[in-house]
Amino acid sequence: MEYNGIYRESPRYITKGDELILSMTPNKRVTVPWVIDSKGEHRKLSMLTAYDYLTASLLDEAGIDILLVGDSMGNVIQGKTSTIPVTLEQMIYHTEIVSRSTQRALVIGDMPFGTYSNVRDAVTNAIRLMKDGGCQAIKLEGGKRVLNQVRAIINSEIPVMGHLGLTPQSEHKFGGHKVQARSEYAVQRLVSDALALEEAGVFAIVLEGIPTEAAQRVTEALKIPTIGIGAGVYCDGQVLVTHDMLGMTDFTGRFVKQFAVLREQILSAVKQYKDEVEHGQFPTPQYSYELEIEDRDKADILDAMKDYKELDREPIDEF
Ligand code: KIV
Repeated sequence: MEYNGIYRESPRYITKGDELILSMTPNKRVTVPWVIDSKGEHRKLSMLTAYDYLTASLLDEAGIDILLVGDSMGNVIQGKTSTIPVTLEQMIYHTEIVSRSTQRALVIGDMPFGTYSNVRDAVTNAIRLMKDGGCQAIKLEGGKRVLNQVRAIINSEIPVMGHLGLTPQSEHKFGGHKVQARSEYAVQRLVSDALALEEAGVFAIVLEGIPTEAAQRVTEALKIPTIGIGAGVYCDGQVLVTHDMLGMTDFTGRFVKQFAVLREQILSAVKQYKDEVEHGQFPTPQYSYELEIEDRDKADILDAMKDYKELDREPIDEF
């Protein structure tokens, strides 16, 4: 982008000629300490979900700080109604793709339902996700009830991002996807869970589906950053499911801003393609290949083919 004809901006830096004026985000891969420092440096964190090479590389090029290979993959990629059936093998497969497709974003692999219900499983599975998935950190859902697992994973040198509020893996306990922490008692429990996670060593916490004031109280109580989704304006960063914010899904939850409506563009492009194929308007010669033969041979061959066509015979093999 040009600024007054002299400044060039990329997601990573602003330059004037060859001189670096301002480094906006690190050139190298975002690190866990950089994410933690963002809070003190009043730098809002951008986070989106990614599950495949093309999307991950585009989001990385756009300068998104954190890419979450979320178990929302169950809904978005697998077309299921819940995140619960997602397996560790599937998470590893997609996390490896996203890690390999990015150069700058911090990649976080989501621990799927049932893979951290005790300390032993939690450590074994987190190690697998990081080792085979190539991510730099993992995320798991829950507060005090998963504290032992969180401590054990962190003791294995794996950075952990917490996730509180409307945690989709608990949908059956909640009786659906319902906004959480709406009473004073529930807010106090939320703050207490968040403080316990911070004390255990998590480097950031996703706050999902809670009132603005509840998220504000958690954010103010913590030294580590909070990353909101449907949690109001006071969080230290934001996350959305990429397919929702690009308007590819028809999900229109109140907290989702559609920054594009790709669903309509895709539908219209695909309908036009079908129409042109059916009416013989695509492909035209512009989208077709020609024989690589010398012009004089070509003229002879075309004449010969014309003769055969007139005789209603199949062309001979050499042609
Ligand atoms: O799985 C996911 O995409 C998530 C985000 C919505 C935070 O957990």
